Amino acid sequence: MLDLIIIGAGPGGYEAAFEAARLGLSAALVEKEVLGGTCLNRGCIPTKTLIHAADVYREIEECGRFGIVSGRPSVDMKMLQEHRKTTVESLQKGIAMRLKAAKIPVYQGTGTIQSDEENELDSGKEKQVCVTAPDGSETLLEAKNILIATGSVPSVPPIPGSDLPGVMTSDDLLFYDGEPLESLLIIGGGVIGVEFAGIGQSLGTKVTILEVLPSLIANMDRELGQSLKLSLKKKGADIHTGAKVSALAQTPEGICCTYTEKDGEHSCTAQAVLIATGRRAYTGGLFSAGCTPEMERGRILVNDWYETSIPGIYAVGDVNGQIQLAHAATAQGLRAVRHIAGRAVDAEPDLIPSCIYSSPEIASVGLTAEEAKVRGITAKSHKILSSANGKSVLTLQERGFIKVVYETDTHVILGVHLLCARATDMVSEFAVAIREKLTLEQMAAVVRPHPSFSEMITEAVRI
Ligand code: FAD
Ligand code: NAI
Repeated sequence: MLDLIIIGAGPGGYEAAFEAARLGLSAALVEKEVLGGTCLNRGCIPTKTLIHAADVYREIEECGRFGIVSGRPSVDMKMLQEHRKTTVESLQKGIAMRLKAAKIPVYQGTGTIQSDEENELDSGKEKQVCVTAPDGSETLLEAKNILIATGSVPSVPPIPGSDLPGVMTSDDLLFYDGEPLESLLIIGGGVIGVEFAGIGQSLGTKVTILEVLPSLIANMDRELGQSLKLSLKKKGADIHTGAKVSALAQTPEGICCTYTEKDGEHSCTAQAVLIATGRRAYTGGLFSAGCTPEMERGRILVNDWYETSIPGIYAVGDVNGQIQLAHAATAQGLRAVRHIAGRAVDAEPDLIPSCIYSSPEIASVGLTAEEAKVRGITAKSHKILSSANGKSVLTLQERGFIKVVYETDTHVILGVHLLCARATDMVSEFAVAIREKLTLEQMAAVVRPHPSFSEMITEAVRI
C-alpha cells in the first residue's frame, strides 16, 4: 500500500509528489489529461509566452524611439501558436523526467475516491482511488492518504448569448491561430481580463473591458487598479467599470453586447468576446457516493494544513478556492505533504505574492494600508515614482511607482504594491523582508547595483 495518492498533476499535485519522494514517502500521481495542469497547458505559461511575444512585437514597432530603424512587423499567429506549443511541451518533458527520476508512477485517467463497507473513509485506515483510463479500463490504488489537486475551470455567468460562436473563455482564446483580431470585448476586468487586454493592445486589437465592480483588479491596492485603467486607456482601450452585462447577440457587424451603467443601457460590438469572470473549483468525477468531504459553493473546505473533513484526505490549490495561483497551489501541496510525513509545519501562513503581467507589470505582497487598518495596526505608506530611476528612464518605461506599507512605530515592513518594469521579480525581495519581519532601515542597508530597476527598492524604503 502507498503512503499517498495524488489526484491532479498541476503545480499543486506534481510538486507535492516531488516533496513526498524527498521525504521518503511512496506516492503515485493520477492525471486525466496531460502533465502540468492548467498552469502549464492553459494558464501561466501559455499566457506569458503570448505576452512575451506581444511585448517583442510592440518593442519592434516602437524601436524608433531608441534610434533603431526597422520595418513594420507583422504577426504570424500560426508560428506564434507553434512557439507556445513547443514551450509547453518542453516543460512537460521536464516534469516527466523529474517524476521518473523520483520514481513516482503516473496513472493516466480520472481518479475517483471510493469507499466500501469495510473501508470506512473516516476511520483513518487505507483509502482507495479507482483510476478510469481513457480506454475505460480501471485500476484500483490504495494508500494511507489522498491529496486532491484537481484545480479549477472557467466560471461562465448565465449571460444570454454566451454560447455563441466567437464568445470564448481563456481556454479557447489561448489557442486562437486566426488573423489577429480587429476588436475584442472582454467581460471581467480581473487578472485574466487585463492580461489578455495587454496582449490584444500590443498586437493592434481594439479592446473594450466591461467590469461589474467599480474598479479593475478590485482585490488589489486601489491605486494599482486606477493606474492600470489609465495606462490601458492611454493605449486606446475602452474601459467601463460598474457595468452590468445583460446579453450578447450576433449581428452582421459582430457580437453585440448590451450592458447597463449608472446612466442607463448601452451597447458595443466586437469581433470576439472573452469571458473572464473568475474560475470555479473542479471536482467532476472525483467522489463516489458517500465519500464527499465538506464543501462550500463547490470548493473543498480544508484546515490550516489542507486536510479536509475526512482525515487523511487533503485538498490543495484551486480546488479549495483559497488563492487561485500556481505558487500558492505548490506551497499548499508542500505543507500538506510535510503534515502527512509527520514533519513540523510552520505555524505562520505562507506569504503569497500576486503578480499581473501587464505593461507595466503589477505585483503585491503583504498588506495594503486599508488591510493593516482593519487589523488594528497603525501603519503608514511611502510611495516613490519610477521616473527618477536611471534604468527606467534609459529603457523608456512608462511611469510607475512602488508603495511600501510599514508599521508606524517599528518601521517593520507590512506590504508592498508595485506598478513598474520588473515588478514581478522585485516583489520577491519584499516577500523575504516581510517574512523575516525586516524594517525599512534593514532593507535600506542593502547595497543594490547601479544602474538597476532594484535601486527603486532602496529609494522606496528610505523615508
Ligand atoms: P491545476 O493546474 O488546474 O491542475 C489540476 C489537474 O488535475 C489538471 O491537470 C486536471 O486535468 C487534473 N484533474 C482534475 N480532476 C481529475 C481527476 N478526477 N482525476 C485525475 N486528474 C484530474 N497563476 C499564477 O501563479 N501565475 C500566472 O501567471 C497565472 N496565469 C494564469 C493564466 C490563466 C489564463 C489561467 C486560467 C490561470 C492562471 N494562473 C496563474 C492560475 C494557475 O494556473 C492555477 O492557480 C494553478 O494551475 C492551480 O494549480 P492546481 O494544481 O491547483 O490545479
Ligand atoms: P478574477 O476573479 O481575477 O476576475 C474576474 C472579474 O470579473 C472580477 O473583477 C469580477 O468582478 C468580474 N465579473 C464577474 N462577473 C462579471 C460580469 N457578469 N460582468 C462583468 N464583470 C464580471 O478572475 P479571472 O480574471 O477569471 O482569473 C481567475 C484566476 O486565475 C484569478 O483569480 C487568478 O488567481 C488566476 N490568474 C492569475 C494570473 C497571474 O497570476 N498573473 C493570470 C491569470 C489568472
